[in-house]
This record gives sequence, C-alpha cells and structure tokens, in this order.
Amino acid sequence: MRWLKPAAFAVALLPLAWLLWRAGFGSLGVNPVETINRYLGDWALRFLLIALAVTPVRQWTGWPALARLRRMTGLFAFFYVCLHLASYVGIDLFFDWAALWADVVKRNYITLGMIAVLLLVPLALTSTNGMIRRLGGARWRRLHLLVFPASILGVAHFWMMVKADIREPLVYAVVLSVLLGWRLWGFARRAQRA
Ligand code: HEM
Repeated sequence: MRWLKPAAFAVALLPLAWLLWRAGFGSLGVNPVETINRYLGDWALRFLLIALAVTPVRQWTGWPALARLRRMTGLFAFFYVCLHLASYVGIDLFFDWAALWADVVKRNYITLGMIAVLLLVPLALTSTNGMIRRLGGARWRRLHLLVFPASILGVAHFWMMVKADIREPLVYAVVLSVLLGWRLWGFARRAQRA
C-alpha cells in the first residue's frame, strides 16, 4: 500500500491546483479576492472534517492503512486554513494589521475564526514523531482533542458569516455532529468498560 500516501498527498493538492488554474485563466468571477478567500475557507473546513473522519472510516471499513493518512489530512487542513487566512490578510486587507485587529475585535465570525486558528497551531507544531515522543501518547492525544473545538468554531464562523441561506453551513454542522457523536459514543463505551 505504498502508493496510498503519495496518492492522497497529490489529491489533497488538487483544490489548490484548481484555484491556481482558474486564477491563471482569469476565471475567478467578478470578485476574485472574495472567490479565492471563500474557496480556501471551504477547503480548510472540508479538510478539518476529512481529518476527523479518518479514524471512524478506518474502523467502519476495517482498512487499517487509512491510519497513515490521519496526520497528513490534519496538516492539509492547517495548510488550507493558513492559505485562507493569508489570502484575507494579504490580498483583501493588504497587510493592514490594524484593520485585521479591528475585524477580530468587532466581527464575531472573524473572532471565532481566529480562535480556531490559534487552537490549531499547537496541533500542527506537535505533529512530528519527535513531539509525540516528547509529550507522551496520553498527553499528545489529550492536546489533539483541540481539533474538536477548532472544528466547531470553524463551522460557527461560517454559520455566522452567511446572511440568509444557512444550507451550506448546516451540512457541515450535521457532518461534524455525526463525527463528534461517534467520538463521544466511543468515550462513553470505554468509560463503561473501565
Ligand atoms: C479554522 C479556521 C477557519 C476556517 C475553517 C474557516 C472557514 C471558512 C469558511 C468555510 C468560509 C465560508 C466560505 C464560503 O462562503 O463558501 C469562510 C469565510 C471567511 N473567512 Fe474563514 N475560516 C477560518 C478562519 C478565518 C480567519 C482566522 C479569518 C480572518 C482573520 C477568516 C476570514 C474569513 C472571511 C473574511 C470570510 C469571507 C467573508 C465574506 O466573504 O463575506 N477565516 N471561512
């Protein structure tokens, strides 16, 4: 199964390649800045949910090789989050840090997005084997539970941003609830057995 990781890596880069392709051919619509930012936000959230889905899907399918994709999908989520944030700060605000701070303080959905990013930073920094060893498995796993509040905040960020049509954030909220519910059910079962 040596092809799995390189194949997943290539697939995970496709959304970015598609964006660059569209930018190159000038097909980003009437508001390219907004299109880029929203597109990257969508993929950031999708990868967060994909990363959360790896373990349940591995258990449902009984395909252990999928475990090898957990770290990669998590890091791709962080990668798309960073691109989303960079596109906002760089091409929307032109690195106007005062404007960014004003947004963080005044616009609730930006505040939540920023907290979500801050929660993801320690996860990305501790994703190496060396850091797992240094922290110890139990502490590392506890720390990485932060991916759940970060994902909840990511969905809330999207939900609060939309003005009327909540269908899209609702789909993300339902998927996240299923993944969270599955995890809580696992905890409850383990606690019962202990
Ligand atoms: C984990 C962190 C984050 C996730 C998962 C995320 C995800 C998203 C998603 C899914 C959208 C909606 C895209 C659409 O309309 O289809 C969005 C929009 C947006 N996000 Fe984020 N985001 C995050 C953090 C941030 C941060 C830190 C900022 C800015 C400091 C930010 C700024 C924005 C802006 C400005 C929009 C578009 C608003 C508009 O066009 O009206 N996001 N984000």
